[in-house]
Amino acid sequence: MTTTARPHVGTALDRVEGMEKVTGRARYAYEHSPDELAYAVPVQASIARGEVRSIDVQAALTIPGVIAIIWHRNAPRLAPADNAELSVLQSARVAYRGQYIAVAVAETLQAAGEAARSLSVDYAGEPHDTELRADHPGMYRPEKVNAGYPTDSEHGDPDAAMEAAPIRVDATYSTPAEHNNPMEPHATVARWDADGLTLYDSTQGASAVRATLAALFTMPPANVRVIASHVGGGFGSKGQPLAPVVLAALAAKHVTRPVKLAVPRQQMFAVTGYRTPTIQRVRLGADVDGRLTAIVHEAIAQCSTIREFVEQTTTPTRIMYAAPNRRTTHRVVKLDVPTPSWMRAPGEAPGMFALESAMDELAIACGIDPVELRVRNEPDADPESGEPFSSRNLVACLREGARRFGWADRDPTPGARLVGRTLIGTGVAASTYPAYRSPSQASARLEPDGRYTVRIAATDIGTGARTVLTQIAADALRTSPDRVTVEIGDSALPPATLAGGSMGTASWGTAVVRACEALREQVSRSGDLPSAGLEAAADTKEEVGAQERFSRHAFGAQFAEVGVDVDTGEARVLRLLGVFAAGRIVNPKTARSQFIGGMTMGLSTALFEESLMDREFGDYLNRDLAQYHVAACADVRDIEAVWIEEDDPHLNPMGTKGIGEIGIVGTAAAIANAVHHATGIRIRDLPIRLDKLLR
Ligand code: MOS
Repeated sequence: MTTTARPHVGTALDRVEGMEKVTGRARYAYEHSPDELAYAVPVQASIARGEVRSIDVQAALTIPGVIAIIWHRNAPRLAPADNAELSVLQSARVAYRGQYIAVAVAETLQAAGEAARSLSVDYAGEPHDTELRADHPGMYRPEKVNAGYPTDSEHGDPDAAMEAAPIRVDATYSTPAEHNNPMEPHATVARWDADGLTLYDSTQGASAVRATLAALFTMPPANVRVIASHVGGGFGSKGQPLAPVVLAALAAKHVTRPVKLAVPRQQMFAVTGYRTPTIQRVRLGADVDGRLTAIVHEAIAQCSTIREFVEQTTTPTRIMYAAPNRRTTHRVVKLDVPTPSWMRAPGEAPGMFALESAMDELAIACGIDPVELRVRNEPDADPESGEPFSSRNLVACLREGARRFGWADRDPTPGARLVGRTLIGTGVAASTYPAYRSPSQASARLEPDGRYTVRIAATDIGTGARTVLTQIAADALRTSPDRVTVEIGDSALPPATLAGGSMGTASWGTAVVRACEALREQVSRSGDLPSAGLEAAADTKEEVGAQERFSRHAFGAQFAEVGVDVDTGEARVLRLLGVFAAGRIVNPKTARSQFIGGMTMGLSTALFEESLMDREFGDYLNRDLAQYHVAACADVRDIEAVWIEEDDPHLNPMGTKGIGEIGIVGTAAAIANAVHHATGIRIRDLPIRLDKLLR
């Protein structure tokens, strides 16, 4: 074996499954059709709180082709779940409008749909409360917030420091509920046989689905197999199993046939999670030279009555800027709403909208350039933990972005550049996202024909995971990518963490490198290749658990130029530039797509995305992409993402930080700051709709 192969990490390898995808050979969950297949159509509650007294199924059962109507009276029993959203059809209780209360199973999708629509449901309704308000009497302090972060943190005396500060910003920002809308809605094909349960599922993590479903159906995990070869986007909504996959498995068990269940786009607004709305108060105190003396960031969010889920909105504020006095808090209220879930940069995205908008307000209050203000408040170490940063290149990102964007010529006066009937402005904001890593396992095999096979239950949700793992494996094996086959997307492979938390590549890559190293070791010891080939395995549990104490985060700077139509109030993003420092970039082609994808989602958050609560019926009104607006190609004009070299030895064998989420962080603030620069109007409540700019 040679040891001099060209390093492939860092090169723009084409997606290894690209040909499969463009020729339609790549199969997604819904495209699997086992023999004897039946179709399931779920039924949603039409009250926001109360009980299902009874369901009249007679008419439905007379429809030709209908096999069963399953509801809580006849549903197979499940073991209790930590996440009550998974206890599908286990009780009469309705916790939110749109919750699954029944499922119709039939020979055809059409018959199942007709049966679902023909059910007559008798409810005992109760008054509901679905509105998040800062003064809600049910507001409470949770034990901890998502990702295990402490609920509150406090350093020094922020109140006294605010009192004493010569320059102060005190503003309340709000962000709406937002719904993930991946191109491929959630879908599952469930099949039971003598060996147990097989699921073709659209998920970000096959291993986690296996563990969860095995527990619900009281089986050993070995009796559950989850296959997710290709996934058409997730953004967090497929980060953990939710009601639909359980319903599919339950329906298949009840009818003793394979069942196909696709969540229609219309149902996604209730059953596949969403980003909580937030109300955030930010107070900044500073000296006249812009040095922060106090930072206070208090966030309010909602969750459901059946599961506590508290987004970590103010955690980025704990690490962003130096200030001797700081308080960050989270409060939550349980409402009669679906449980919020993960959505790209949960916490960081809304939290940094507030903090980075407030920093812009502070820059104006101090008369200091907003790039310079951030540079001036750069901390030496993690302000929360005191730990050194493994690497932190926010300042380099700001400086490089300012240079590329042409920031130096900027006149800070708001509302001063009218071109025709368009007001033009520019804005900047910082980005950050933690560099997490989770234990994973992998195997590497030298085949008798001299090729390599690497196996890991990773998932490629469209990011390029298969491709970058091929590059990482090729380098670790000192071979070329075309000699390596990476098998992912199947819980039968060595268990691995999910494609979430921007930690896929770091986590899986570590396991892949270790397995490949172990294989090379074996090969060098064994002399001749045995006819069966050679295989090695790795488990990174110990390595990940034992890593040195550093504060690990990616950073970035977002620059936006907007034009606001004076007559209509329409805001258009004319230019968007993101500069990121995220360790080593494994593949510039797929990385750029991740960055500009995140930035596009940030643009979408800034201008369009908004789920509206109908208080009377207690439900989100949006039902499709005509009512829930996401940025389209025409909304994205000049967008570019670049990165600066970052050599960080404290991360993982590849030297990478995650890049899946940082692109969305800070983008909305950069755009809102640019809108202020253009118009003099400060929008503190997203999205930046035209009516808000005309008032
Ligand atoms: Mo992402 S919201 O961590 O799947």
